[in-house]
Order: sequence, then C-alpha cells, then structure tokens
Amino acid sequence: MPANRHDPERAIDLDLIRCTENAALAASRWLGKGDKNSADLAATDAMRGMFELIDCKGLVRIGEGRKDKAPGIFVDEKLGSWREGTIPAAIAVDPVDGTTLTAKGLPGAISVMAVTTCEKPDDDPSELFPAISCHYMDKIAVGPQLADGNRISLDAPIKENLDIIAASLNKRVQELVAVVLDRPRHEKIIEALRSAGCGIRMILDGDVAAAIAPCLPNSGVDLYLGIGGSPEAVLAAAAIKCLGGQQLCRMWPKNEQELEQLLTVDGYTQADLDKVWNVEDMAQGQHIIFAATGISDSPMLPGIRYQGPYCITESILMRARNHTVRKIQAWHDIRRKTIRMASTGREVPL
Ligand code: FBP
Repeated sequence: MPANRHDPERAIDLDLIRCTENAALAASRWLGKGDKNSADLAATDAMRGMFELIDCKGLVRIGEGRKDKAPGIFVDEKLGSWREGTIPAAIAVDPVDGTTLTAKGLPGAISVMAVTTCEKPDDDPSELFPAISCHYMDKIAVGPQLADGNRISLDAPIKENLDIIAASLNKRVQELVAVVLDRPRHEKIIEALRSAGCGIRMILDGDVAAAIAPCLPNSGVDLYLGIGGSPEAVLAAAAIKCLGGQQLCRMWPKNEQELEQLLTVDGYTQADLDKVWNVEDMAQGQHIIFAATGISDSPMLPGIRYQGPYCITESILMRARNHTVRKIQAWHDIRRKTIRMASTGREVPL
C-alpha cells in the first residue's frame, strides 16, 4: 500500500512562519516608539495579510484584544483562503505578545501563533482549542522531566513544587530559576520563592515565551509560575506539548464581578472554575503546529536585527506529531522585502 502522502500540516507550516515573521517585522518598526497600539495594529494587519494567502479554512479560537480594547485578530474570525476542499483549522494567535515591551523597546516580545488542523475537510475545528472566557489563569509550567504533570500541583505549597522540580533536574532548590510576571498580585509567590532560596527572573510582560522557556535547553529557566492571560496559556500549551513539557492552569477570576459573569452569564459551573487544565486539555490532538518570531530578545528567540542590507528574523516552528523543532533564521533583503497588509491588500516595503 502506498503511504498517504497528503499532509495538510506540511502544506502550511512554513507559511505560518511567514505570518509571524511579517507580524514581527511590522511591529518592529514601532520598537521603542512608545505607541503599543500602533505596533499591535501593524502586526495584526501584516499577519492577517499573509494568512489570507494560506490555503485552509481557518477559524480563530484564541484571539487577542480581550484584556483591553487593543486592535487584534478576534475569536470566531475566519482566516485563510476558505477555498472549497481545503482543510479546516483552529487558530490561536497573538500578533504581538508584549505590546508594552515593544513600545518601550524592551526584551521579551514575540509574534506567535498555533494552528491545529482537522483530519478531514468536513470536520469542525471549533473544539480544537478551548475558548476560555476568564481573562486570567493561574499557571505553572515545567520542562520535559516533569511531563506527566502528576508530581507538581497548583495547590501544593511552592516549596513542595520546588523540591520536586529540583529533584527531577538533579539540582538544589538554590540552583533553580523561576520566571514570574512582575505584578503586585504575585507578592506572595515571590516571597515564597525567595524564602526557599530559588532564583527569580521577573519579567514585565510576555508570558508565552516565559512559560515555554523551561522546555528549552539552555534557557536558564526551570519553571514559570503565576497569573497571566488565558489566551497566552493556550498558546504556550501548544508549544509545551510539542516540546514534551507540562503546564497546569486554572481559571483565575480577577474580581467578584468577573466571577459572577462567568457563573451566571458565561455558563461556567464551580467545577469548571476548579478544573486544572494540562497541555493536552488546551492543545488537543496530534496536528498542532506552533510558530513564533522574535521581535525583541527573549530566552526563546533573538529579536529582529539589521546587518548591511538585510533584516534578520529568528523564528521557531514546532509540530506536535513528531516533536520536530525547527529554528529558522531568515535574511530579508531590505531593498526587496515587502509585507502584505490586509487592510489595503497591498505589499508595502519594509
Ligand atoms: P499584551 O502583549 O497583550 O500586552 O500582553 C502581555 C502580557 O504580559 C501577557 O504575556 C500576559 O499573559 C498578560 O499580559 C498579563 O496580563 P496583565 O498585564 O494584565 O498582568
């Protein structure tokens, strides 16, 4: 029997990198210019512009712009050519994770997306990534040594988790490095990490790259923990699944009003709010592709830089099916490179 050579993921995976590259390039024009909405708008326009050329029936399940009124690619939006016979796909996307970092010219900003394709042209992609109404989730992410996720717990005291992580990595707790978003809500976590003697790397924003970092060799990061965006949790889950690590998350309503909204309007039960999500719950199936391009430097990816007539982008492309990780360095000739913007349908020079 001849092998089935049709592989929809292979057909689109490099195009996804073109999307994140273009979004990162468009955002980088606003690097350090103090205008996060323009950076986000440019990246969104460029990402949508490229995605329009991809042959699939893409449905956005995880979009941005939920936490504020920022521009974005929104949930339920259709992306791709939607030509008859093309494969349905669920999309999770954040054209810029770290809009403030981009506006301030600080490290840690990336452009990121994850796509999961259906098996057959008639399948429904809408359940492939969960749309989580709660703005924030409580998260803990670790590398492949703790992939089963059964030993660490969101409910355990921090010291207990640190002891387990240290033992799995054959390190002392004092040698561990945890990444935490620098927010007042993390005061207790930071205190507990410090009193256990664990190293801390505080970040101002950008917890997709931060949650993936423990899975990457040489990132210098052993765990990520704290409360961050729910869309970001799903995006990180897609990459962590490809890298064989683990992330546990639980919805974290930010106040009584949001709790009330989740229970009475959005139809969640207390059991839903108590549910601990692992990477498999958030990123289902084997057809996941994760793509990201650095805007500014992060533990995952170097940011955009210029050398002679070239603009250099660094991207990462991963597939869940066989855990292949590709690092893609692209040299864009500034004299020729153009970016297709969806708003005008035109190619604009870099
Ligand atoms: P934006 O790029 O959309 O501004 O998000 C940045 C980010 O730091 C995320 O990485 C993180 O999950 C979330 O914001 C944290 O939310 P908040 O800034 O409200 O604490």
